[in-house]
Amino acid sequence: MSSAANWPTEQIRQAIAPELPGFRVEVLPEIDSTNTELMRRARSGQIEPLLLVAERQTAGRGRLGREWFSGDGATSSLAFSLGLPLSPLDWSGLSLVAGLGIVQTLHPDLRLKWPNDIWWHGRKLAGILTETTSVGACRYVVLGMGINLRKRDSEGLSTLPAWLEEVLPGMDAASTLLRVAAPLLHSIKSFEKSGFAPFQAAFNARDALRDLDIVLSDGTAGVARGVDPVGALRVQTADGLTSISSAEVSVRPVIAAPS
Ligand code: BTN
Repeated sequence: MSSAANWPTEQIRQAIAPELPGFRVEVLPEIDSTNTELMRRARSGQIEPLLLVAERQTAGRGRLGREWFSGDGATSSLAFSLGLPLSPLDWSGLSLVAGLGIVQTLHPDLRLKWPNDIWWHGRKLAGILTETTSVGACRYVVLGMGINLRKRDSEGLSTLPAWLEEVLPGMDAASTLLRVAAPLLHSIKSFEKSGFAPFQAAFNARDALRDLDIVLSDGTAGVARGVDPVGALRVQTADGLTSISSAEVSVRPVIAAPS
């Protein structure tokens, strides 16, 4: 069940295989979810490093059990998952590094909304879903990336979507994949060796929440102050500076003063 479309699979394989022996790229015309498929394969013992691309997902998944809408296939969005065995000393900050690897290679004005979203001028361009499973002594990680390519319906979404056509006119799914795949893998391998700390400054330079009034999912309000050396979000609250390692964050809307 492979696709005949013009995906640069061999170019990507050649760019990555020296750093990741045995690496392959596979493109499927349709699958429920590239993350689900790689997790299924890993649980059945297939833990080779693989970039799995779907031209259409029928049950794309977002974080926190949400649905990820893939539009009408590879013209409107890019959906792929990178699966590989990984053994960092500390896992914290992995998906922040994945996001950073993507934005750094696409555009200087792209920002990262902690923990997992890529924003273009306050609107969500892309999301990352990171999952892991143990296979024997090894831990297999699946990093799933969904990038809006063309204008999409925003009905029912809390954050207005952005699309890559606005950022980089003319980029399609294949050229975007070619551009991001090797830098993404490179960032992940560098994270495996050195952890999040070497990425802290770069993340903070791209932090979409920096100095904004935010509210955490438990209702805590404060001002976002970047991330710490393990990728936790620093929030200045009424009780002092605190570090948050897992929460949903929303930006508090600016209420216009009555005139
Ligand atoms: C989010 O923003 O909540 C994360 C979205 C992640 C979507 C991608 S698309 C490719 C991969 N397969 C999935 O089912 N989800 C991820």
